[in-house]
Amino acid sequence: MIESNSVKLRVEDLTLIFGKRKKEALEMLMQGASKAKILEQTKCAVGINRASFEVYEGEIFVVMGLSGSGKSSLIRCLNRLNEPTSGKVFFKGEDITGESNNELLHTRRFEMSMVFQKFGLLPHKTILENAAFGLEIRGDDKIEREKKALDALETVGLKGYEDLYPSAMSGGMQQRVGLARALANDTEVLLMDEAFSALDPLIKSDMQDELLQIQKKVQKTIVFITHDLDEAIKLGDRIMIMKDGIIEQIGTAEEILTNPASDYVSAFVEKVDRKTIITAESLMFTKPSILRLDKDGPMRAIRKMREQGVKFLPVEDEQRAFVGYVWLRDVLDLADNKEKSLDKALKTEVPSVYKEYTVEEMLPLISGNNYPLAVVEKDNGRLLGLVTQTSLIIEATRFGDEEVKHLIRKANDI
Ligand SMILES: Nc1ncnc2c1ncn2[C@@H]1O[C@H](COP(=O)(O)OP(=O)(O)OP(=O)(O)O)[C@@H](O)[C@H]1O
Ligand SMILES: [Mg+2]
Repeated sequence: MIESNSVKLRVEDLTLIFGKRKKEALEMLMQGASKAKILEQTKCAVGINRASFEVYEGEIFVVMGLSGSGKSSLIRCLNRLNEPTSGKVFFKGEDITGESNNELLHTRRFEMSMVFQKFGLLPHKTILENAAFGLEIRGDDKIEREKKALDALETVGLKGYEDLYPSAMSGGMQQRVGLARALANDTEVLLMDEAFSALDPLIKSDMQDELLQIQKKVQKTIVFITHDLDEAIKLGDRIMIMKDGIIEQIGTAEEILTNPASDYVSAFVEKVDRKTIITAESLMFTKPSILRLDKDGPMRAIRKMREQGVKFLPVEDEQRAFVGYVWLRDVLDLADNKEKSLDKALKTEVPSVYKEYTVEEMLPLISGNNYPLAVVEKDNGRLLGLVTQTSLIIEATRFGDEEVKHLIRKANDI
């Protein structure tokens, strides 16, 4: 998760055009011509079209889009393997598009490392030498660089393989070496272009888990490119979706699923299993009216329910932790009996969840008694909001899972 929102990379109005007649193409682009039209008239390919975004320190920022959408063009502008046609890239607030060549090399070698799809290992060097290669180019002495490379190999689970050559390693292991090489450089930023795309599915999944584990330890800022939505959702703190060099949307997986910015994004995310992503936080309504067990009696409860037009209300204790619900019919009985406290009407056997619970985790908590799910703060049990069964049902119906629909209908008798 993102600890702070300090900006590590900022990209401003970045455009990248390939071809000889860049100026003409850029003018057409500014006037709103399409990528296809520009290609037809100028033979220039628009790689990136006026992209602006920020990458925060410590996050995994995933760039995704179909082939040709400009993902590689973009990541290569971040370390200036591609020279932007216009626009700026800032690294920790400093404009690196304006840097001279020497400064630029420094940035590439000391501040950003790249992991490639095809591993990029040197066949005649050992695993250790491969892992140390970035440091060798940088000019670190042998003892120093081998020590760092060994540490990095250990981090990626390849301790003991140092003296082998790449040809003796499987694809997954080779990619670990690629990752170790980037980690050995100990740069603040890792740029990973389809780093896991060439791996077969099971190994790919292992590598994703591994990357998440490693990231917990090293807390790098990672820009990760993929065309695989499941991978994007698994790895990305935030995801940026591109089409034809244009940014269509930036957000968390949940933001993108709950609020797609365009038809393109909707179509893209259509097949995602929403129930594993949508959480209580996005379904709950906040600031429900709440009763205090130590202060509020039946009369006050009745008045509040009448004001709100509801038949029940949540209740908290004196520490303000959620303890359950009271229902109107029970409270009316208490009032008839001149009771002063809500204690006897309190139903405490009620489901509560944390805000990160997914729809999938909440569905089994639905029951015939129609209680909403109380979303409470982990530390102190305070009520953050309520997820009604209706909103869960709608969410479940939207993903069209017949079995789930049936269960819900049964539970709610609707
Ligand atoms: N060196 C180049 N010369 C000319 N056109 C290029 C060059 N590199 C990329 N392009 C064009 O720029 C656009 C974006 O390409 P890019 O490689 O960035 O896409 P991508 O999203 O990385 O695709 P993929 O998923 O296939 O890797 C495409 O239209 C492509 O044809
Ligand atoms: Mg690419």
